Amino acid sequence: MVTKKIKIDSQKATPELLNDAAEIIRSGGLVAFPTETVYGLGADAFNEEAVKKIYKAKGRPSDNPMIVHIADKGDILNVCSEVPPAARLLMEKFSPGPITYILKKNKSVNDTVTAGLDTVAVRIPSDNTARALIKAAGVPIAAPSANLSGKPSPTRAAHVSEDMDGRIECIIDGGDCDIGVESTVIDMTGEFPVILRPGGITIEMIKEYIPSAVENTRLTGDIPKSPGMKYRHYAPNASVTVVEGDKRDAVLKKICSLCEENGGKRIGVILRDKTEFPICADFILYAGRTGSEYASKLFALLRECDDKNAELVIAETDRSEGINTAVRNRIYKSAADNVIQVF
Ligand code: TXA
Ligand code: MG
Repeated sequence: MVTKKIKIDSQKATPELLNDAAEIIRSGGLVAFPTETVYGLGADAFNEEAVKKIYKAKGRPSDNPMIVHIADKGDILNVCSEVPPAARLLMEKFSPGPITYILKKNKSVNDTVTAGLDTVAVRIPSDNTARALIKAAGVPIAAPSANLSGKPSPTRAAHVSEDMDGRIECIIDGGDCDIGVESTVIDMTGEFPVILRPGGITIEMIKEYIPSAVENTRLTGDIPKSPGMKYRHYAPNASVTVVEGDKRDAVLKKICSLCEENGGKRIGVILRDKTEFPICADFILYAGRTGSEYASKLFALLRECDDKNAELVIAETDRSEGINTAVRNRIYKSAADNVIQVF
């Protein structure tokens, strides 16, 4: 299959400009598209055969359900059976945006999208291209991240091409994603909201409106409630070690000694920021000082480590909160929980 490429200026995207891509969705094909978080791999959520093709293209385990994307809050009852008041409140504050609500599904959502669960994950993306595509298609779009299963999520069209060229009908290139880590997933079906995956909308932001909200994302280990969180994710070919602490000198010293111990390997180091420390790695990449910068670059940096043939990646993190919680969650997974805390 030849993968069609459409380039679009996200600021100027309209449903009319995306009609070709929308037609592919309507006829049961797969289209990768940008969102404010990461690129998604979309199909008509109401077309079960089309949704099956997503699992195949990604090599995704079929027990891992997908997020259904809609263009407007007014469309929510097309996919779920009820919207509890707490969900309405959060939607008013944070949607469109990087947050996904787990709600009771309605009958029109097939079991392939939800992997047989009686709940459905729903998100209203804020990205202009994503919304224009959904509007043009005229159906909700089921979409996981547009990477091969287990690879870092794609934050630019070139990453999608690396993984998906020849496997899907179309890639819409709308430039780099702003946020860079996937949406916050929040379960709204219980007594109080439970965050299953940290993301751009943080627990602190949610608690401001619903103080009873809790996190069940444990930075390490399995979270069976959200099936996707149990797989090793976001992994480059190299093995990853995270070095974390609040005292930067201690963290850098540990990174130096790990580089020395692993001298036989090709080592890539991901640092927040420049340093005078003599780090003897094969290459050093910089993620930026703030949690948001780290989030926006993380997956691209992990892919760059592969391009540079790293065998070992050593990544610096700290324990600040906010979106850094999402950064740590993703990077811990890429490291298969190989995290060294230094004090
Ligand atoms: O930002 C994002 O969320 C991106 C963009 C494309 O929207 N999408 C994304 O999809 O990250 P994916 O499939 O890579 O992650 C969806 C997560 C998985 O961890 C999945 O297990 C969980 O949401 N999920 C989906 N449906 C669920 C449900 N009914 N109950 C619990 N978890 C669910
Ligand atoms: Mg994913």
